[in-house]
Amino acid sequence: MPKQVNLTIDGRAVSVPEGTLIVNAAKGIGIDVPVFCYHPKMEPVGMCRQCMVEVGRPMVDRATGQVVMENGQPKIQFGGKLETSCTTPVTEGMVVLTASEKARASQHDILEFLLTSHPLDCPVCDKGGECPLQNLTMRYGPAESRFLYDEKQHLAKHVPLGELIWLDRERCIQCARCVRFQDEVAGEAVLGFYQRGRAIEIVTNSEPGFDSVFSGNTTDICPVGALTTDDFRFGARPWELKAAASVCAQCPVGCNITFNTRREALSNGKVVVKRVMPRQNEAVNETWICDKGRFAYHFTEDAGRLVKPLVKVGKKHETAKWDAAVEQAGRKLRSAGGDAVILAGGRLSNEDLFNLKQLADGLGGEALLYTTMGGGAYTTQAGVAAGTNIKDMGAGTTILVVASDLYNEAPIWHLRVKQATRRGATLIVAGGRATRLEKYAKFVVRYAYGDEAATVAGLAKKAKVGEAIAATENLLVLYGSDGLGLEGSSALAAACASLLVETKHVNKSNNGLIGVWPRANDQGAWELGFQARTDLAKALAGKTVYVVAADPAGDDPALAEALKEAKFVIAQELFPTETTRLADVILPAQAVTEREGSFTSGERRVQRFYPAVPPRPEARPDFAVAAQVARAAGIELEGRSALLVMEKLAAAVPAFAGLSYRKLAEVSEQVPIIGRGDMYYGGTTYENSQGLGVHLALNALEAIKAPRARAALRPKENQWLAVPVTRLYDRGVTVATSKLLTARIGEPTVFLHQDGAKKLGLDGAAEVRVNGSSVRARVVVDGNVPASVVLLPRSMGFPLQAPAVADLKKA
Ligand code: SF4
Ligand code: SF4
Ligand code: FES
Repeated sequence: MPKQVNLTIDGRAVSVPEGTLIVNAAKGIGIDVPVFCYHPKMEPVGMCRQCMVEVGRPMVDRATGQVVMENGQPKIQFGGKLETSCTTPVTEGMVVLTASEKARASQHDILEFLLTSHPLDCPVCDKGGECPLQNLTMRYGPAESRFLYDEKQHLAKHVPLGELIWLDRERCIQCARCVRFQDEVAGEAVLGFYQRGRAIEIVTNSEPGFDSVFSGNTTDICPVGALTTDDFRFGARPWELKAAASVCAQCPVGCNITFNTRREALSNGKVVVKRVMPRQNEAVNETWICDKGRFAYHFTEDAGRLVKPLVKVGKKHETAKWDAAVEQAGRKLRSAGGDAVILAGGRLSNEDLFNLKQLADGLGGEALLYTTMGGGAYTTQAGVAAGTNIKDMGAGTTILVVASDLYNEAPIWHLRVKQATRRGATLIVAGGRATRLEKYAKFVVRYAYGDEAATVAGLAKKAKVGEAIAATENLLVLYGSDGLGLEGSSALAAACASLLVETKHVNKSNNGLIGVWPRANDQGAWELGFQARTDLAKALAGKTVYVVAADPAGDDPALAEALKEAKFVIAQELFPTETTRLADVILPAQAVTEREGSFTSGERRVQRFYPAVPPRPEARPDFAVAAQVARAAGIELEGRSALLVMEKLAAAVPAFAGLSYRKLAEVSEQVPIIGRGDMYYGGTTYENSQGLGVHLALNALEAIKAPRARAALRPKENQWLAVPVTRLYDRGVTVATSKLLTARIGEPTVFLHQDGAKKLGLDGAAEVRVNGSSVRARVVVDGNVPASVVLLPRSMGFPLQAPAVADLKKA
């Protein structure tokens, strides 16, 4: 426990841990000191001088070293000058005056100074209404300007820093929050200052511009309207917006977000999402989100959404009434009985998956998760325990990241693991190729693709790495699917779970296994008893298949063939896909913005999301459709509301016992305190008043089955090993529909080592033949790719679920 320090601020006694900055001590008792450059998540720099306060300290007799007393109290001596409260730590007996005449005069003068070169275009500025400069000027600043508008400096107002973020140069107050965020928090120093003094400008030094997956966060923390996002810019005024709490559905981190919505003429009078903002959850995403979470939401409003049920008549799909479509689907499932297969995607909510699992059980059929990553049996038993928070990890914790490019797979985990190393955590990164995270690792373990599980099995005995693991108090293991399919990742999960069990790092907080799943709620599906099969094509052929939120036919020609051979196919989706094209019945689902439910994050935290916009008239939530289909099949399920389904779920599944929507909505005070109406301290990140989520209980640990020995993946002379990898921006239906991300998604691309590329004379494009299909792709030479390996990004049109031999030819 750090030592407590006692002081008074504006006459109020306060006791805070040693080292606390005055600005934070004041915030803790509800006294807001105006700041611009200070942000509670970054190192203080004392650049803007806005936070000046009067500071007095007990007078010490130089001769005796004793505190001088006056009327029985320590005599307080105030310095001649004011001090910046954002850089000054508290000391015992300190007396702080944040609102004295002298402090207020300084705060007023700094504001007047900042406004000398500010354009004052609040009426057209996107930040107007939630702008720290505007708000602080109203509260502390001058009512009138002594400067003539024409004498202000005029700079470029529409500077693209990349395709996502715009800079208005004359609004910038040079606080360096954006530059420091990119450097300190994101670890991607792609912004900088150019010139000096009044001429200082923010510039991007990357190619392409502002090349960072965290760029949108700078617009939240910029204390003026200098940085704005492309999709919100000139799109609405903050006071017109409503806020709905939600959880990002793009990856297993489960970042807490807020959808800001507005009813507008521009969208034919509909209520639409205008922007996505982070919502504070210090145990999940703190106050940040990645750009995929911020910009990919446009899929929910895409004109191409499925809006009506369709049934196949002859070879064509025709619009049908809900009752008729559901009746047909239910009848077919009932007659299939044990031959029914439910194939569900991990973007569904816990409630959807629970109902689908109940339906499969009721029919006596199979409930399968559509995924290329396995190991759920281990994360439900050896996963992280309640109370786990990466933010609390530092010295004494070892984090092992294996077979995962966290930066691309789960950006906020990348950021949090990196921050843990700053606090002293030991990071071990084991992978088949170099990834961005390795820069922060104490140990890097390189293996040949195919040797992942064997490498983890040998880690405890490996010199240095083994010693670090043996000595650590806490051990957190994150495993992914870089270069792995279902079988390989399941074997890797078993090896990771064994390591945790053998070293006694299970069933205690800040210890355990995290699956870096491809989808937001894969963990939920495993918890609810879904299984994954490596012989999926075989499992589908000849069966009655109910596919929900998955596009197997689009991903893999072999699965398309299997669905063609299926007896009957029901597809429940947001968009038309290759799978819906093959389906006999198509049921339109609601998007995450239109409904409520809950997801289970990779850290096994169940979190609630709320409706933000009215649903499309005929689309229905997946859990309700599943209940209707079930009823038509003669099985009664709860389908009236997500809340009622959660009640059933909590009663039926031990890990969820005691959980309810009310519990999921509980909040407690988080540090730093952001929100409370002031946006200058923590930026425009939303305060969390809608729920911090609840950790699931762990299932009882069963003996871990040793995985089957796998054949080593060693390509022969003149062969290529095609390895599936994840890129943040892909062509999945929930990403590719965001026009804003088109440039980032790019065309199908493969990555090769320069030697291999040279050998084949591949300098531009290549024809890649893998698993019986041929795809034309751009070739990118990357020295980090091992020889004889070609990296094929997932969801970019390559039919590759697991490593395979590929042919490469010049296109
Ligand atoms: S662009 Fe915004 S965050 Fe960056 S230095 Fe200027 S005012 Fe500060
Ligand atoms: S890290 Fe994952 S959950 Fe968080 S905003 Fe990005 S995609 Fe969404
Ligand atoms: S100097 Fe303290 S907020 Fe800028």
